[in-house]
Amino acid sequence: MSDAKLQNVLSSLSQAAKQLDALPSGRPSPDANYVKLNTNENPFPLPTIVWQSAIAALERQYLYPEDDNISLREAAANAYGIATDHVIAGNGSSELLGLIYRAFLAPGDRVAMLSPGFSFNRKLAMLQGAQLLEIRCNEPQSLPIEQLLSGPTKDAKFILLANPNNPTGTFIPIADIERLLAQSDRLVVLDEAYVDFAPDNGLRLLNNYPNLLLLRTLSKSYAAAGVRVGFGFGHPQLIGRLRNIQNVFNMNVIGHAVGISILAHRAVYEENHRHIRHERQRVATALSQLGFSLTPSHANFLLARVPAGHDGRWWQAALERQRILVAFLPDNGLENYIRVSIGTKTQMDAFLGAVSDISDSLKLGRSPVEHR
Ligand SMILES: Cc1ncc(COP(=O)(O)O)c(C=O)c1O
Repeated sequence: MSDAKLQNVLSSLSQAAKQLDALPSGRPSPDANYVKLNTNENPFPLPTIVWQSAIAALERQYLYPEDDNISLREAAANAYGIATDHVIAGNGSSELLGLIYRAFLAPGDRVAMLSPGFSFNRKLAMLQGAQLLEIRCNEPQSLPIEQLLSGPTKDAKFILLANPNNPTGTFIPIADIERLLAQSDRLVVLDEAYVDFAPDNGLRLLNNYPNLLLLRTLSKSYAAAGVRVGFGFGHPQLIGRLRNIQNVFNMNVIGHAVGISILAHRAVYEENHRHIRHERQRVATALSQLGFSLTPSHANFLLARVPAGHDGRWWQAALERQRILVAFLPDNGLENYIRVSIGTKTQMDAFLGAVSDISDSLKLGRSPVEHR
């Protein structure tokens, strides 16, 4: 297409469609020589038995995947002790978040989220023409129930809680969430992407609260981010609304097979979760000895306030020069923080080594070394 033709296409778009240009798009994946600690993956291989199920699934590659993800939904229903019509399966839980925005919001509607929160929700609200109310809470370890039930948030069509929260890693007691569910007639979306690293979870609330939609993913605690498997649990009328607007064949045969196999072998991952918790503690202690302040984390990442003198952007760039990728999330007052995923011991040693080198160079007044 000539440039003039392309300009004609773009200028014919409505104002609302043009606004989408402002949405952030992803960065290319770095090469394998980088230690990637910026998107909270779990860098362990799949158990052999899960891996074999993926290979076997490829023998059916010429067929469309099973309609409505029935076997996978049944497997999740069995694993989590709920009925199949209470379960939706998605191409990652982010697909399900997108469906929730489309199913429950019209342009101009409000949705509420605690701040700082998972920034993907900004994009979803904007795509829907909805207003995302970001509620700042001074005490991130407890829920500001009054604030969520009054003021502008009382009109929100749903309240979004990530527990543990991203990017803080903080965990709200399930009793607080139960109080909110009991006192509110709003839908509460409880995003439990990181819950397997936390001390408790909200699954039992599904029995008593039809205003709860709970999201889980196999991306974080089950090391399958690239396979894209997520679940939503809730009342069949809410789940049915989401299933009605879901794409046909939204998942693929590998996602189905890997998801079913992981759910059947969840116990195998206990060692993985123990490792992450142990490394989380080790890295937190080492970082605080190097002058960082840590937010207590119940997820597979740490939010660390960097030592005075340089901001989070500076530390992110200094670490990237040493081929270590961490997240810098300047929104919501996190200019002086970096977020670091917890990976293998080798990865975390490389990260701590780089932080230590950079700290040493700062003490000596040298600019940090190029890379190790
Ligand atoms: C809080 C939260 N929810 C949902 C997701 C989406 O996970 P996925 O789409 O891989 O299931 C993420 C990913 O980073 C997250 O941090």
